[in-house]
Amino acid sequence: MPRDLVPGLLARATEVLEAEFGALPAFEAALESAVDSAAMTRVLDATAQRLGDNYPYFHPLYAGQMLKPPHPVARTAYALAMTINPNNHARDGGRASSQMEIEAVDGIARMFGWAEGAGSYLGHLTSSGTLANLEALWIAGQLAPGKRVVGSEQAHYTHRRISAVLKLEYAAIAIDDSGRMNMNALETELQKGDVGTVVVTLGTTATGAVDPLHEVLALKQRYGFRVHVDGAYGGYFRLIPEALAEPARQAYSAIIEADSIVIDPHKHGLQPYGCGCVLFHDPGVGRFYKHDSPYTYFTSKELHLGEISLECSRAGAAAVALWATQRLLPLTPGGEFARGLAYGRAAALELDRRLRLDGGRYFQAPAAGAPELDIVVWKVNAEAPGRASELAQKIFAACAARDLHLALVELPLRWFEPQKVNGIKDSTGTVTCLRSVLMKPEHEAWLDRIWQRLTAACAEVIGE
Ligand SMILES: Cc1ncc(COP(=O)(O)O)c(C=O)c1O
Repeated sequence: MPRDLVPGLLARATEVLEAEFGALPAFEAALESAVDSAAMTRVLDATAQRLGDNYPYFHPLYAGQMLKPPHPVARTAYALAMTINPNNHARDGGRASSQMEIEAVDGIARMFGWAEGAGSYLGHLTSSGTLANLEALWIAGQLAPGKRVVGSEQAHYTHRRISAVLKLEYAAIAIDDSGRMNMNALETELQKGDVGTVVVTLGTTATGAVDPLHEVLALKQRYGFRVHVDGAYGGYFRLIPEALAEPARQAYSAIIEADSIVIDPHKHGLQPYGCGCVLFHDPGVGRFYKHDSPYTYFTSKELHLGEISLECSRAGAAAVALWATQRLLPLTPGGEFARGLAYGRAAALELDRRLRLDGGRYFQAPAAGAPELDIVVWKVNAEAPGRASELAQKIFAACAARDLHLALVELPLRWFEPQKVNGIKDSTGTVTCLRSVLMKPEHEAWLDRIWQRLTAACAEVIGE
């Protein structure tokens, strides 16, 4: 593991925090004095050993699922906030952290161009992307009762489930061979006249595909519906348009026109889990959240975040960690944070380039072209799709045996150049593919070593 900066940073920050409360009379915490410190040490040794039973998510050779280590400043700020353990439901439970949440969310809104002029959006943190999407679709349903929600076949699976919870009808729109929502298929659904909301995914979970938001917005002019952007994974790529291909760049530049946006700081935003965010362009939707709380909202006339959030208790520490991270690494194009995203993007393009250069010896990259963000998918070359799936599983395991952790994904066979199977072109159904999420800045420097392990695993499974 790399040298951990957090213990040192935390020791110092804790002293500063203790000084803030230095005027209070000293006391001994009952639970701490009841247990001897040797017992706590033993339990924590056992805890650390149990945590060893994990994939090494923090290491550059972990290039599988969407997992990115939180920044040391985020971890320190989170742990520091645990001394207070604030609750961002109301200012009564989290005075400083509520204000820090408002400021951190403002940083995110500005990244999307929404904070010009006071009151031009409403937003808050949530415990996850799923909860954030639930709030966005809940508001959508309030504004268009009885109308349907649609999203692409590659939209996150929770949209269908959230819609069922909210008792909104949901339909999946066909995708093109790049994994983006197909605009003809969308228009066919819109012509039925009962679509209230279109979920546009900027960065699909499986492949990082970017739906053409600008084209969806053009259809909105004609058919009138609400546009919800699910940028839980890909939202931060708004900061590096120069590193994206033209269609994705156009989609990101249209984000300012969305009605609501979800982004997950606990994915690309360097935060510990428990940090999603929802933003609404019209602050007026706050009326749907209106409720009374007989227990809270007493200490301040200012907005309590519980008044604009479906959840009651929320971790104030998540807001503190996000605030500290954005203070250190502002969400600005060309800044250090944006550079971190660009390294992962460059690693993805390089991996894709090598897969294509391989020329079918082991692999087939998707026929539509290079990845849109930093997620790479590829098929194993084999005489039949079933065999390609089987080999993908074996290569996945052979890579893991070399400490290289990839992921698997089921993709439409038609995304790849058709192969002749017994004289028949077989392109229906799906095939199990390899998938790599290259979201850590270190991935670029480690790509050679990732590639060596991948090809060594292939040589073992398939032969030289
Ligand atoms: C595009 C997209 N939307 C929503 C989600 C759900 O987010 P969470 O896991 O934070 O609930 C994910 C998770 O991977 C995602 O990729």
